[in-house]
Amino acid sequence: MRTLPVELPGREYQIEIGVGNLQKSLVSFIRLLDPELVVTVTNTTLEQLYPGKIRNLLDPEGFSNETCVLPDGESFKNLETLQVIYDFLMEKKANRGTVMVAFGGGVIGDMAGFAAATFMRGIRMIQVPTTLLAQVDSSVGGKTAVNHPLGKNTIGAFKQPNHVSMDLELLKTLPSRELQAGFFELAKHGLIHDRDLFDFLNQNQLEPLDLDFLEEAVFRSCRVKARIVEQDETETGLIATLNFGHTLGHLIETHSGYGNCLHGEAVGTGMLFASYLSWREKLLGLSSWEMIRSFLEPKMRPVSLPPLDFEKFCSLLLHDKKASREAVNFILLRDLGDCFIQKEMPLELIWNHFGLFCSEFPDLCRVKLL
Ligand SMILES: NC(=O)c1ccc[n+]([C@@H]2O[C@H](COP(=O)([O-])OP(=O)(O)OC[C@H]3O[C@@H](n4cnc5c(N)ncnc54)[C@H](O)[C@@H]3O)[C@@H](O)[C@H]2O)c1
Ligand SMILES: [Zn+2]
Repeated sequence: MRTLPVELPGREYQIEIGVGNLQKSLVSFIRLLDPELVVTVTNTTLEQLYPGKIRNLLDPEGFSNETCVLPDGESFKNLETLQVIYDFLMEKKANRGTVMVAFGGGVIGDMAGFAAATFMRGIRMIQVPTTLLAQVDSSVGGKTAVNHPLGKNTIGAFKQPNHVSMDLELLKTLPSRELQAGFFELAKHGLIHDRDLFDFLNQNQLEPLDLDFLEEAVFRSCRVKARIVEQDETETGLIATLNFGHTLGHLIETHSGYGNCLHGEAVGTGMLFASYLSWREKLLGLSSWEMIRSFLEPKMRPVSLPPLDFEKFCSLLLHDKKASREAVNFILLRDLGDCFIQKEMPLELIWNHFGLFCSEFPDLCRVKLL
């Protein structure tokens, strides 16, 4: 088991990463918190795969605990489902002494986190992320949110957990597609800030699952994100670099239509594009570009998009803001493990590179450009 401290003044916590470590890691930590009640928030899929997983750890230790089971899916990450959590907390007479445990992927982590941030002006919470994406991304950093019909993650709060327990054993049941999608976010941390992590990933295979490899990879990836989150407290703007691959990624997610492509998959394509653009702009050397290309390309799932013209491309990159902006900030690579924010990159330049990218990778990014 590996332990990673997150050093946020006054809100320090630890991330524990291991295999089959949940019992030891979770129970001993909850004991330290001495809660009056523990409320686990999870979803129907996890409750079916791991019936009473958290309850079975807490009952023998004598902790009073309840489980709130929500429907599964991003479409339920909204205010109505949040109300279900608040109702549950009220019915079970939760109070400031209650500890919440989020047992699930990023959707559960974000919703339970927001509920814990707001119920009685904030109760303590523990993240038990069960997807690779949640382990390397959403459970680290303290961002929580639900969606509004007009915008994703628009209603949210910062809520640092008191503890994060990751048991990689849980990934054995995660569908391969979800695993791969999370792996792109894991690899992103290597590409932008940690060359050694990239090399380590490049020398190993994700599947068949090797939990020893994953323990090291998840640890190193979380370490990159944790250091960024710590430093960004001093407003270095470093956190924006985590958007590497997300400019085109968001466009793909939105334009391909809801549910057609997973977030991590879209980000994978976006990272290939951002690397390509860095190379074409002569910022990234040929050998590094080729290394990134041979690493990402075989892992990618083709994306198919409806036809796209320049105007639509711009409105998607600008998130449909009507502003007459002609440029966006874009995260580029100077080298493997070394990124920077290119301020005010002209949309026309991005569009031109996108055209070249689509003709270079016609099978990976299928779209008719008008
Ligand atoms: N807060 C942040 O900083 C942050 C960062 C990135 C993403 N997010 C959010 O995270 C969400 C995406 O998270 P996700 O990719 O984990 O999706 P998810 O939570 O929807 O999980 C994906 C699917 O896998 C299932 N699942 C979870 N664990 C499983 C397991 N161990 N075995 C089998 N099935 C399992 C889930 O029930 C779900 O059907 C989005 O809502 C996104 O906005 C938040
Ligand atoms: Zn992302």
